[in-house]
Amino acid sequence: MARLVVISNRVAVPKARGAAGAQGGLAGALNAALKKHNGIWFGWSGQECDSFTGDISMQTSDGVTTATVDLPHQDVEEYYNGYANATLWPLFHYRLDLTEYERTTAKGYERVNEQFAESVAPLIEKDDLVWVHDYHLMPLGDRLRQRGLKNRIGFFLHIPWPPTRLFVSLPYHERLVKTLLSYDLIGFQTEEWLDSFMHYCRKELGADVDEATGRIAYDGTETVARAYPIGVDFDHLMNQLDTGTARQAAQRLSSSTRHRTAMIGVDRLDYSKGLPERIDGIGRFFDRNPDAVRQLVYIQIAPPSREDVESYQQIRTVLEQKTGQINGARSEVDIVPIRYVNRGHSLAELCGFYRVSKIGLVTPLRDGMNLVAKEYVAVQDPDDPGVLVLSRFAGAAQQLDGAVMVNPHSPDDLAHAIETALDMPLAERKARWESMIGTVRDDNVHQWTERFTHDLERVPC
Ligand code: G6P
Repeated sequence: MARLVVISNRVAVPKARGAAGAQGGLAGALNAALKKHNGIWFGWSGQECDSFTGDISMQTSDGVTTATVDLPHQDVEEYYNGYANATLWPLFHYRLDLTEYERTTAKGYERVNEQFAESVAPLIEKDDLVWVHDYHLMPLGDRLRQRGLKNRIGFFLHIPWPPTRLFVSLPYHERLVKTLLSYDLIGFQTEEWLDSFMHYCRKELGADVDEATGRIAYDGTETVARAYPIGVDFDHLMNQLDTGTARQAAQRLSSSTRHRTAMIGVDRLDYSKGLPERIDGIGRFFDRNPDAVRQLVYIQIAPPSREDVESYQQIRTVLEQKTGQINGARSEVDIVPIRYVNRGHSLAELCGFYRVSKIGLVTPLRDGMNLVAKEYVAVQDPDDPGVLVLSRFAGAAQQLDGAVMVNPHSPDDLAHAIETALDMPLAERKARWESMIGTVRDDNVHQWTERFTHDLERVPC
């Protein structure tokens, strides 16, 4: 089995502090892949330095070697806070209104990709498979090729690919896509994002695109693009659910909710997650069912994210206001309808919370996949499963058809979905859950890694 070199912006450095710690679905997924392939994981340490030195800090823990570099403040501002998170992230989540187009940040993005290539290239051996992840590092494969690397290099995009009409608003969009075509294999979360990418290549670049095989021929290069829906680490989740931490968390939540049904949402505090819209939907539900404050409690876990980016500061303020308004209007001396927690929790605790929450709300406005939806389904009690309420705009909606689907923009639709979930008879809950659990269990993260690396080893290059 070829050694795997994974390159991503965020690296789950063991015992890292602050921003360097593992967060989001990406970190857990990659750890599993690396353990299996005895690999190296290269990326940013999450730490800042005075000027870029390229010094690599290596650590091996639990079978995974991490290799990280520090970045100067200006690089973090321009590459991470700037181009990645104030240009690409909003644009790729269809939020043109929040997308900033700045030449300086675009240059910072190019510069950091160049520096990453310079630093990681000496670590890559002849037969290694190289797997680059996510929107921060789209030009990296091209920069590695410029350094003479002949290895098979794959790229996986964890977020949506926007429709061509939106994507062309990005200055130098062709340049970015042409760099992507240096990869041997490009993976997307769903067929929908894959189709948008192929449409762009055909329409804007005039590339020769074969829909059936995913082959894209352009200017003498050939690349393959396919959908690889990411999954959860199912066995790991089961192990987490079996811990004292999970049991205590479940106990803590159920005893504090007393006779009310717990409904849970777990999201990074990000505008793509549809949190204010969700709170509006919950407000509408309580307007329609004023007595339900004694029947339902909503727990929103929303750890702050990307706090140096203005749009993230704004979403936090909006959410605090909306939550405060509903709690002010609906609370009684002994009852609060929404518990809003700005803090992250361990996976074991989350498993415990999911297990006792009879409704899981996952209502992003746009999401590449959304692993919370799959985690929620994974840890339900087979004899008494909860109901997943899922946005039709999450990538996960293309697989989890047993969920109650909602349009997250519509407060009425959300309110109605909550009513449906609350009233759903056990037989229907079981039938819906049974229709999803097979996919969640079998199309897991190991299978995802296997499929991608298997194809990467075989694509013509
Ligand atoms: C999403 C992205 C990941 C990212 C994660 C957390 O899942 O696809 O690449 O790591 O969010 O965001 P952060 O900015 O904290 O790395």
